[in-house]
Order: sequence, then C-alpha cells, then structure tokens
Amino acid sequence: MDKLAIDGGPRSVTLDQDRLLKWPVLGKEEEDAVLDLMRKGDISSSSVVDDFAKEFAAFAGTKYALPQVNGTACLLSAFFSIGIKPGDEVIVPTNTYWASAMPAAFLGAKIVFCESEKTSLGIDPSDIAKKITKKTKAIVPVHLYGYPCDMDPIMEIANKHSITVIEDASHAHGTEYRGKKIGTFGACAVFSLQGTKILPAGEAGVLVTNDIEIYEKSVALGHYERVSSLERENYKKYRRTGLGLKHRLSPLHAAIARCQLKKFPEVNGRITRNCEKFRAAIKNIKGTGFFLPDIPKHVKRGYFMNQIVYDEGYGIIPRAELVQVLGTEGLRVGQSRYELLHKQAYFTERGNKPDDFAFTEKLVSQLVSFPNFPWDETGELVDQYIRGVEKVAYYLGDET
Ligand SMILES: Cc1ncc(COP(=O)(O)O)c(C=O)c1O
Repeated sequence: MDKLAIDGGPRSVTLDQDRLLKWPVLGKEEEDAVLDLMRKGDISSSSVVDDFAKEFAAFAGTKYALPQVNGTACLLSAFFSIGIKPGDEVIVPTNTYWASAMPAAFLGAKIVFCESEKTSLGIDPSDIAKKITKKTKAIVPVHLYGYPCDMDPIMEIANKHSITVIEDASHAHGTEYRGKKIGTFGACAVFSLQGTKILPAGEAGVLVTNDIEIYEKSVALGHYERVSSLERENYKKYRRTGLGLKHRLSPLHAAIARCQLKKFPEVNGRITRNCEKFRAAIKNIKGTGFFLPDIPKHVKRGYFMNQIVYDEGYGIIPRAELVQVLGTEGLRVGQSRYELLHKQAYFTERGNKPDDFAFTEKLVSQLVSFPNFPWDETGELVDQYIRGVEKVAYYLGDET
C-alpha cells in the first residue's frame, strides 16, 4: 500500500475532477433551446412553459404540474392552497433547507420541528406522532438528499388525524417508495429545479398534485394569466387580479428544464450506478466507521447528494481530520450540512431552544459528503475514490 499523501505518498485521485464532477452541465441542446427563444423574443411568455408542465406531470405521475419561479414559491403556493393560516401548526424536520418551513411561517403558522432518523436522514415518524396537536394542519416530509422518507407510518399518522401531507421532493426527482413515485403520496409535492439539483434548470420549481383545488388555487395565487384557462369557474373571477403574487416560470428556464428532463434518465442512472458502486465498495472496507445500512427493497433512492454518516466512535480519527486526510488524497469531500432550523434566530425568537433535537444534532455532525460522480462514465473516478478510502482505512482505521 502506498504511503498516505499527507505523509508524502502519491495522491489517490489523479483524474480531471473539474470535468467529471462539473454540475450542472448544460450542452448544445440547452444553448439552442434558449437561443431559439431569445431570437424569437419569447423571453417572458411562451408555450414552452406549458409544454414543460405537461412533460413534468408525465414524469411525476400526477394530473397537474405547475412550474414556478423556484421551489420556495411552490412551497408557498402549497401552504396557501391548503389554507394555512395564523395559529395553525406545521410539522417540519429541523434538518432541512429553510424553504421547507419558512413559507408556512410567513403565512402565520407555528413551525413544529422534528428529529430525523439515521437511515434515511429524513423526518422521524415516531417523533411526528409525538408532535401532533389539535392545531396540526400539515406535515412536511423532506426526502433529504434523494432518500425517501418512511411514507407508510407518515401517511398512517396523517390519515388518522386528517392532516395534510405536503412532500418537499426538492432532492428526490426519480425517487420511489414501495414502487410509487415520491411526490404522489401527499396532497401535493414540490420539486426544486435550482441549479445544484439533480434536475437543474437554474431557478425553477414545480408543484405537482392530483387535487384540482390545490392546483387552481396555486394558479390563482401566482399566475393570473393562466386563471382564464382553468377547468372550473371557482377562481376564474380572479382572472384580472389573481390572488396576489406572480410566480410564473421564465421560458428560458423552462427551455433548459425540458432538455434536462430528457437527459434525466441517463444522467440519473449514471449517478445512481456510481454512488451505489462506491458505497458497496466502502461498506466492505474494514475500520472506516462509515454507517451504510442496506437499502430496503421497497426503497428506490436517488443521490442528489452522496452523504454518509461517519461514526467517530469506531475509533478512526475525528471527522474534521478524516475530511482533511481524504482531501489530501485528492478526494473532494466535505462536512456539508444544513444549519438546523430550530437554532436559527427566527425560531429561537419564537420559543425554540437551541439545545433541543440532540439526536439530529449528533447525526448531522457525523455526515461526510462525497461527490455523486455525475460524469464518470467509466467508473474510473469512483475506483480512485475507493482506493483513497481503502488507503486511509488501512493506515488510520479501527482494525477491530
Ligand atoms: C429541501 C429543499 N426544499 C426547498 C428548496 C427550495 O427550492 P428553491 O431553491 O428552488 O427555491 C430547496 C432548495 O435548495 C431545498 O433544498
């Protein structure tokens, strides 16, 4: 075994990572599609957005898909459309991006936080059950990093108490649970298409639902020009004013989204293959301290991010040092994590205690993020990463 790079040995990773890990990758198709709209002057309204809506509904397996400026706007539409108002409670994991919660807070709801669980890193159903009150109006499972939340117990709790589920599927394009697509469990779901996402369009998001009321109310909130074309009369009277906001997607972004949607099966397939190869290999390396439970048969996960729980308790070095040693080997690893929401000023000012959610605090402090290898067509970069982890485990790992 070569010496560690940190001790003067050769680096494990030598391939061109700027190319193999570049994200997003926009090609000639996207350039042509955007230029075509620019040349025609169709930069504000265009049938491209409607075409994309139809294509996305087919992809998501829902009756309606409403493209909007971003995922945050879609979440606001979702909370608004189910009637969230001051005094309502909305259950959200503390470990998520702020947009899973803040639009509901903006509408006056009290955000009630939950712990996450170790396997999926998503919201812990047993903690949801403890947080239900008479005021609970919605639960927001966030399918973090592409791993579906445990939807059976979540839906059981929600149905038992007649609580609406809004899925934040911003990380979970193409993810399934028990053979059913993520985004079709709740009353509605939101996909972000922001530039880092696994289906990137720049700034964009899509609200999907089978519920005509949610769809029409969301259209009326943010897209008054579309109001006249709604199926039912309910909201047509608002065709001159809408209900207050303008959320519609720019055609230039819709054009990029359409191209990326076409490429998605191929790109996502490669990401999944590479991440699974990497994880299977490092699971077999003794002494790494990585927690890699088998993925249950009923879960088809995605890899928006390739985060792995690293258990320092197994005797290897502290996480920060591990990240440094792997980095010296050339591996692009990080300790990336969300700042837990319940600790943020907005929520401590409203009575949340920073020391709550000790389990989730510990869990996120153990995460190590690896790349998801989007353009590694041959798997050679994955091999180099595996060798890097092997080398570090050989010299520094716990051999018990
Ligand atoms: C979990 C989660 N929810 C919601 C959003 C909001 O999406 P957008 O950035 O498109 O507004 C994001 C985006 O980063 C996210 O990661």
